[in-house]
Amino acid sequence: METIKDAAKSVTGSGSGDKPGEFESGFTVPVFHQKVPGLQSEMGPQPLSDRIPTPEGGSQLYKAAGKLEGRKALITGGDSGIGRSIAILFAMEGADSFIVYLPEEEKDAQETKKKVEEYGRKCYLHATDLTSKENCKAVVEAALEKMGSINILVNNAAFQMMQQDIKDLPEDQWIKTFNTNIHPYFYLAKYTLPHMKRGDTIINNASINAYIGRPDLLDYTSTKGAIVAFTRGLSNQYVGRGIRVNAVAPGPVWTPLIPSTMTDEAMKEFTSPMGRPSQPSEIATCFVFLASTDSSSISGQTLHPNGGTIVNG
Ligand SMILES: NC(=O)c1ccc[n+]([C@@H]2O[C@H](COP(=O)([O-])OP(=O)(O)OC[C@H]3O[C@@H](n4cnc5c(N)ncnc54)[C@H](O)[C@@H]3O)[C@@H](O)[C@H]2O)c1
Repeated sequence: METIKDAAKSVTGSGSGDKPGEFESGFTVPVFHQKVPGLQSEMGPQPLSDRIPTPEGGSQLYKAAGKLEGRKALITGGDSGIGRSIAILFAMEGADSFIVYLPEEEKDAQETKKKVEEYGRKCYLHATDLTSKENCKAVVEAALEKMGSINILVNNAAFQMMQQDIKDLPEDQWIKTFNTNIHPYFYLAKYTLPHMKRGDTIINNASINAYIGRPDLLDYTSTKGAIVAFTRGLSNQYVGRGIRVNAVAPGPVWTPLIPSTMTDEAMKEFTSPMGRPSQPSEIATCFVFLASTDSSSISGQTLHPNGGTIVNG
């Protein structure tokens, strides 16, 4: 749930006292750590899920326009961070969702469900470990059983852990990162596509790190590059059949992934050319765009909500 402070923010300014608000240059995140996979309920300040910036850097509630009326979305990692915000903005736009997360994140998942229901849509919960192919198959079957169809597949779950040098990167971490970040994207797309029809979409969450080659997240960065290439190849397979496949490559975003996996030093430098990290809501708006017909002629592409870092491709 957003904090009382967040809810009370006016549309003209979001900071309190001298401190910059979440959407103002100079906003920094506190340095603290959580156990993997991290819990949004235990973060402070709370990441923003349904509030977006005003032109002046204040905050306002996202304004929906019925862009996803009646659509059904399968969202991995939907309990928290970017995935939670996607489920909430999708609900505001009229879509039901089926969210997947790890069992230890049940509290966060319940909160996402509550927020989606507040916007009048359904949210089905499914706790499972996506590193297993069988679990991915069961996810698609359960989502189809609950919702009747899957119009939007959002591949969003991921794992990362910082290692400064390839010599210190454990081989089993390399395998775990690939098993979490790219193999389920393949399995979920493979099992969902036979049930998709013209107008349905797949959106994969990549990362700025695929483009800047972040050295201290080598395994994660490699999976994110694979996701961009997977998006392009799959788009070329399906674009002629009216199913669009796109990716989003966020820069630094305030989510549980950060305190659960980043070092003190990395958290102190957690910013962008805009002078602040992004909030989940600023990434979720890209997913709304790519899921709706507003992006009807876009496929195989990657959007870059990253606070102004120029990347190629
Ligand atoms: N936060 C950032 O700065 C940032 C930047 C670029 C890209 N991203 C991407 O955004 C996406 C969402 O991450 P987030 O930052 O919102 O963090 P998050 O921790 O809120 O979400 C990640 C989710 O992945 C899910 N997950 C991890 N391992 C899983 C497994 N084995 N089985 C099932 N679910 C599993 C968990 O439910 C977890 O909540 C990820 O793909 C991440 O790489 C994040």
